[in-house]
Amino acid sequence: MKVAFFDTKPYDKPSFEHYGKEHDIQFKFLETKLTPDTVELAKGSDAVCVFVNDTVNAEVIDKLDTYGIKIIALRCAGYNNVDVEHAFGKIHVTHVPAYSPYAVAEHAAALLLTSVRRIHKAYNRTREFNFSLSGLTGFVLHGKTVGVIGTGRIGRLFIDICKGFGMHVIAYDKFPAKDSSIEYVSLDELFERSDIISLHCPLTEETKHVINQDAINKMKKGVVILNTSRGALIDAQALLEGLKDRKVGAACLDVYEEEADIFFEDRSNHILNDDVLSQLISMPNVIVTSHQAFLTKEALDNIAETTVNNLLSFYEKDGVCDNELCYHCHRIEECKKDRAEKCF
Ligand code: NAI
Repeated sequence: MKVAFFDTKPYDKPSFEHYGKEHDIQFKFLETKLTPDTVELAKGSDAVCVFVNDTVNAEVIDKLDTYGIKIIALRCAGYNNVDVEHAFGKIHVTHVPAYSPYAVAEHAAALLLTSVRRIHKAYNRTREFNFSLSGLTGFVLHGKTVGVIGTGRIGRLFIDICKGFGMHVIAYDKFPAKDSSIEYVSLDELFERSDIISLHCPLTEETKHVINQDAINKMKKGVVILNTSRGALIDAQALLEGLKDRKVGAACLDVYEEEADIFFEDRSNHILNDDVLSQLISMPNVIVTSHQAFLTKEALDNIAETTVNNLLSFYEKDGVCDNELCYHCHRIEECKKDRAEKCF
């Protein structure tokens, strides 16, 4: 099996080479992202493997279809960059639903602690032998209220971590967990009561800009906003205004709406053309990491193993691929996947 592997980074290769060799899968590692301009590089492959910032829109899907590509294997959980509805009936789409929810939940916690105890400032100071404490006053997490939006795998682990710190947890989820002790509240109540807000829901039309000007107006002064989910959950311009007005006390962003052409690359010798991101990064109470939350040894290994298994289950087994992303699934009574068949 030949797989065109788009947007390859050095840390992707070892684990994919390892699992590829085990199962006779040949990965063609391409540094470029998948876009309508680069899709031709997939010609001659049986499948493509893509990541969060590859473009898998209708145009790309139609071209892949004409090249005879049968499967788009996402090596990530989120799939907002894929037009799954357009792919239906043409190309199967799989993803890695949970490669290490711990990695993301722990990164969110790391960002929170860094922010509230000013570790990022202290680290830079002591490296220059500046041992002053002025401006480093933090606050205690114990007893604070954290509002978690999205209580799936990652959200729930983040809740457990917060409980370990003695924080009071409230949450909002469109589909609340049934048998849990989580205190669910409305979004408005979450905005009004939370000292810290952490986003763990997927990016959909409904959740786009869930943190906007209106939401920020409802929040407590000094609120800390964490986003390790998807950039477009936050209206970055509104966040910037909230920070300038001192309404938002701090922001920790592992993702950013316009990250596609910026994150994952060394831009240190370039002038950043994104004024909003530049201003955010320049603020002492904003921490930006470059979509790094997943990046642990455990997650990379899990991503490669699951992606290879997704490919194998499609080509070698007649049965259903559990990790197929089918917009049709569960919307119709006769869901083929429920009968352990391929979705189309
Ligand atoms: P999950 O599918 O287990 O949980 C998502 C939760 O969001 C579910 O409980 C669902 O009911 C809820 N939800 C759906 N629509 C909602 C809405 N309109 N409002 C509120 N809640 C809603 O997903 P998981 O594994 O916890 O991942 C969460 C997100 O984390 C992913 O969608 C992905 O975007 C992001 N992620 C980020 C990574 C990073 O490196 N920064 C790595 C992996 C995932």
